[in-house]
Amino acid sequence: MTIDRCTASIRVVATGDNKLGVSVYGISDNSPRRVVVVGQGYVGLPVAIRAVEAGFDVVGFDIDKTRVDCLRKAQTYVDDITDSDLAGAMSTGRYLPTDDPAALAGFDVAVVCVPTPLRDGAPDLSYVEDAAATIAPRIRPGCCVVLESTSYPGTTEEIFIPILEAGSNLRAGKQFSAGYSPERIDPGNETWRFHNTPKIISGVNEASLHALQDFYGRLVERTVPVSAPREAELAKLLENTFRHVNIALVNELATYCHGLGLDVWSVIDAAATKPFGFMKFTPGPGVGGHCLPIDPSYLSWQARRSLGRAFRFVDIANDVNDHMPDHVVSRVVAQLNQQRKSVKGSRILLVGLAYKRNSRDTRKSPAIAVAKRLDDLGADLRAIDPLVSEDAIPCFIQMVPCEPRQITDTDLVVVLADHDAIAWELFEQHAHRVLDTRNRLRVPAVTRL
Ligand SMILES: NC(=O)c1ccc[n+]([C@@H]2O[C@H](COP(=O)([O-])OP(=O)(O)OC[C@H]3O[C@@H](n4cnc5c(N)ncnc54)[C@H](O)[C@@H]3O)[C@@H](O)[C@H]2O)c1
Repeated sequence: MTIDRCTASIRVVATGDNKLGVSVYGISDNSPRRVVVVGQGYVGLPVAIRAVEAGFDVVGFDIDKTRVDCLRKAQTYVDDITDSDLAGAMSTGRYLPTDDPAALAGFDVAVVCVPTPLRDGAPDLSYVEDAAATIAPRIRPGCCVVLESTSYPGTTEEIFIPILEAGSNLRAGKQFSAGYSPERIDPGNETWRFHNTPKIISGVNEASLHALQDFYGRLVERTVPVSAPREAELAKLLENTFRHVNIALVNELATYCHGLGLDVWSVIDAAATKPFGFMKFTPGPGVGGHCLPIDPSYLSWQARRSLGRAFRFVDIANDVNDHMPDHVVSRVVAQLNQQRKSVKGSRILLVGLAYKRNSRDTRKSPAIAVAKRLDDLGADLRAIDPLVSEDAIPCFIQMVPCEPRQITDTDLVVVLADHDAIAWELFEQHAHRVLDTRNRLRVPAVTRL
């Protein structure tokens, strides 16, 4: 089935014989419908705010009361959603942040965006299971339930839907619609935002796919229907594994180039002039955030479980990327050694603690991994990051303002995340020794990764 961007919307309705029917109505029918988004984090909050913009009544449900309190006060905690976005959503009267499950009652569409971490190297789907159990008793005939959390192929149909069915006494694909639609949010990306990034959608049957199209067709410019939830789940894992593997490739190239005395950045820039068959990735201190350190391992875990063999690319990429903080620390040691100094007692200024440029997210940040290793070696650590809040970093890192005194009064500056909001000119003017893992600075005092 192919569904192009809504020229007409398709509404799935419950019929008297407990089957789903489809009614078509024009794009002018913008009558708000009730949406609940379960999980108001990096993924769920943008979905909720976009749904409010699109005219839906939205309940943003989260079990974290602190987060809900922030939302009620229009205080953001994720990249991409600003305080004014939240204030705008609240002012419509159509956005209700809550930690009260009773507020979920009466929804037409429920979207689940809860964490899917690894526990002891295996997928931990307990958040997905809990969210499904919360929604299930509130499912009514004709409504639609979508999973957005990243997971291995089969999660929607083997784990999520059985809980929905057991708790509602209704059948997915018969009495209510169900499907999977992976999130593609790229925190800090100014070009590809929620509404203009194509969104993969899938349903457990044709009617469910129509229901997902009906909803997401109002949120994004282009939906990409695929044949089944498993295909959508695997597509998401492929996207992240592709990135993970390619970053590992250039990270390994960086360590190789260092050994040979070659400049990896020049090598990559030269290769990137090829107008076909090459895609540029850049090295760094490792990978972080919620996706790359976790999602590819869902793939390798399932390959082992289902096929009894490793997904070797993932294992190799994990190994290379996990060791990049060690490589950075060895470069720090070498830099200090040239000054006849040890790490112990040296003052080191870390610049950028988030896992990537223009993000405030420190989850699994390689910058924190580097900091931890340097702290273990006895370094006197200071850090600058205008985006990251102090409560998101370990207590052994002291945050300092970005000012000349902090830059000159240090044995080594280490650039770990190159946010645009950092006053880089101060480093160009005042730094006398820098290890730059992001290729941001262009001054003689800099050694690049
Ligand atoms: N962060 C990203 O850039 C990104 C991108 C694409 C996909 N994903 C995937 O999306 C999912 C969510 O990730 P995230 O980054 O938004 O996580 P997050 O930790 O920022 O947010 C998840 C939220 O869900 C809440 N929650 C947990 N259990 C709940 C429950 N039973 N009911 C209600 N709320 C509950 C948590 O309190 C938290 O606020 C994960 O599967 C992740 O892999 C993340």
